[in-house]
Amino acid sequence: MNDNALGVGMLYNAALPEYLERHIDNVDYIEIIPDMFWSDEGRGASPRFVELPQWKRQLDWIAARTPLTAHNIGMSLGTVDYLDREYVEFMRGMNEAYRFRWHSDHLSFLKLPTKGPHDHNAGIAVPVPYDDEYLEMIGAKVDFITGEIALPFLLENNVYFVEYPDQDYTETAFVNKMTGAHDCHILLDIHNLYANSINCGVKTRAYIDELDMTKVLEMHIAGGNEMNGMYYDSHSGPCPDAVWELLDYAVARAPNLRGITFEFHESYFPLLRFDGLNRQMELARGIWNKYRYERA
Ligand SMILES: [Fe+2]
Repeated sequence: MNDNALGVGMLYNAALPEYLERHIDNVDYIEIIPDMFWSDEGRGASPRFVELPQWKRQLDWIAARTPLTAHNIGMSLGTVDYLDREYVEFMRGMNEAYRFRWHSDHLSFLKLPTKGPHDHNAGIAVPVPYDDEYLEMIGAKVDFITGEIALPFLLENNVYFVEYPDQDYTETAFVNKMTGAHDCHILLDIHNLYANSINCGVKTRAYIDELDMTKVLEMHIAGGNEMNGMYYDSHSGPCPDAVWELLDYAVARAPNLRGITFEFHESYFPLLRFDGLNRQMELARGIWNKYRYERA
């Protein structure tokens, strides 16, 4: 086994404290969105980031019992002329306090800077165009982040509903170039890939065959739903069968995989409940164990 491998985990949300109190042995790690645990008072405020006491107590409880990984939503790598250095610095402090095993953010943009203390938030991760300018711009941010925070940094493939025309690269070529030239890795979201196959005709297995799978350290899995003729990555319950099949295909090809993380939105907890969550962990663990010795 790879020494750094963790196994199967879940993305933390407000529905999980009671589940974890009873079933924490069913997860090998918990992934957190660090932004949930503080309030951002805006640029220029002092202190800018204020910890939320009740959330911090939950985080400390989990950290005492299981390894943590961090999934950022605030770096907005795709926003031009934007790098929130205070945010990166605060993340470095969070890592020093909680010893994350790795951290990640999306290959997309989320924020539009303003002249005021708070940025606009698009509310959805918007994909970036795959061209040389973006490769250079995001690459420089990756260099800054990895220089500041001594942890493996993973980029997550996005979900999209339309594709930009006339791009220089396919997504896989762009990601391979990025991870080849900069000190970063891949968080392969299997459900995003599945959603893109439904909405945009992406060939999922060809995508995995083209991607440099040696760079994949983590995979995300989730459920979604269809609305008005589109399929959404709404994290709305158990993973569809096709996601389990694709996960199996991908895990078999990812020699450096360290973790498989199940994501669900807390509002869908009634669809899963404790048994449903345990079932997702059991299915993910089955695939993890099937290939664990190949990852030695
Ligand atoms: Fe994800």
